[in-house]
Amino acid sequence: MIDFDPFSHALHDDPYPVYEQLRDEFPVIHNPRIQLWVISRYDDVYEGMRQPLVYSSERIGMPAGASERTATRAPMMILMDPPAHDDLRALVNRSFTPRRIAELEPRVRAIASELIDGFIERGECELFSDFSAPLPTIVISELLGIPAADREMFKEQSTAVVAASGPGGGSSEDAARANQIMAAYLAEQFAEKRKRPRDDLMSALLEAELDGRRLTEPELLGFAVLLLIAGNETTTNLVSSACVLLAEHPDQRARLVADPGLIPRGVEEFLRCESPVQGIERDLTADVVVQGEKIPAGSKVFLLLASANRDPRRIADPERFDVGRHPNRHLSFAFGTHFCLGASLARLEARVAFEEILRRLPEFRVSGPVKRLHSGVIRGLLEVPLEFETA
Ligand code: HEM
Repeated sequence: MIDFDPFSHALHDDPYPVYEQLRDEFPVIHNPRIQLWVISRYDDVYEGMRQPLVYSSERIGMPAGASERTATRAPMMILMDPPAHDDLRALVNRSFTPRRIAELEPRVRAIASELIDGFIERGECELFSDFSAPLPTIVISELLGIPAADREMFKEQSTAVVAASGPGGGSSEDAARANQIMAAYLAEQFAEKRKRPRDDLMSALLEAELDGRRLTEPELLGFAVLLLIAGNETTTNLVSSACVLLAEHPDQRARLVADPGLIPRGVEEFLRCESPVQGIERDLTADVVVQGEKIPAGSKVFLLLASANRDPRRIADPERFDVGRHPNRHLSFAFGTHFCLGASLARLEARVAFEEILRRLPEFRVSGPVKRLHSGVIRGLLEVPLEFETA
């Protein structure tokens, strides 16, 4: 048996051999110490996401067996099951359709390009702070309508929230404090936009109606905090992890440099190989049987997306990093009810980021030790020193 703990620092260095062992030997494993069941094969992870009422999202982040949702939790759709989830989701879906998102491309490119301008002359950069952290923060802040001066504070708070997140442990006090700081600030911003509406998502949320009524203050805050966190951390880590992957596989990078039309497929492969969300937490509302193992109602389960993405039962030659892979049925944006709202935006940001990076600094190297983010859910990096010759 292995003592699988999503918070283990040793696991974060290289989780993939552990995932392989789980899939092959313990596709359903219970860790009594942290009261967590871990499910690691593609078909089983997929099946869990197909049943949102059995694999419930309402107690994500709460200890296993907790009976009530705490009153202090913000009403966020990511923490809700249908039908309440679907009503909230319908309010924002139209702001994130592929067509609406495609309109952002020129602005995303301008931001990416300005960030590269900021360091290219130096021949080196620290990718996290110079590029992969600010890019999605600026994009989502502009969409929501957050003043430029406050973005850095948001990035810090959202990193604190994800660092503390994950099933079976983690310091939720830090996350709670960070959430409070963000909520207090956002309440001020909503008050300001109520007086003077702008053409941004926060103003649109103030106008939105749910069953003929306006959103409550907690609902408004829940939306804004969710979009800020979900829109920030995942995309940052995708870009950082992908740069390290490309530095380690110069042959694959050369393919993208020679044929930028391949970058969208490359992005899907980055997502598959280094899923920024390693797994999603759920609580069972009924007994289930997975791989012949009964998991009782009330259990907390972790659906390991990143392991599903490398399951040879569904993905051909999964340990090979192939930027031209097609089809690529990774589960990194989840599936079904909670399929990532920002998938089109994340794909756009990552494609544009790599179009610009590979055009302007096609020959980069990792020039020193990287610093890993330790979180129970998010796979990512906090420091990535790069050096390069410019194109
Ligand atoms: C590479 C980038 C991204 C990845 C890998 C990613 C991944 C995910 C995953 C796995 C979920 C499902 C969570 C669950 O079921 O518990 C999710 C949900 C969500 N994501 Fe993303 N995400 C990314 C970028 C974004 C961006 C840019 C936004 C910004 C708008 C965003 C907004 C959301 C929201 C609001 C949800 C909740 C959807 C719901 O409950 O219906 N994500 N994302």
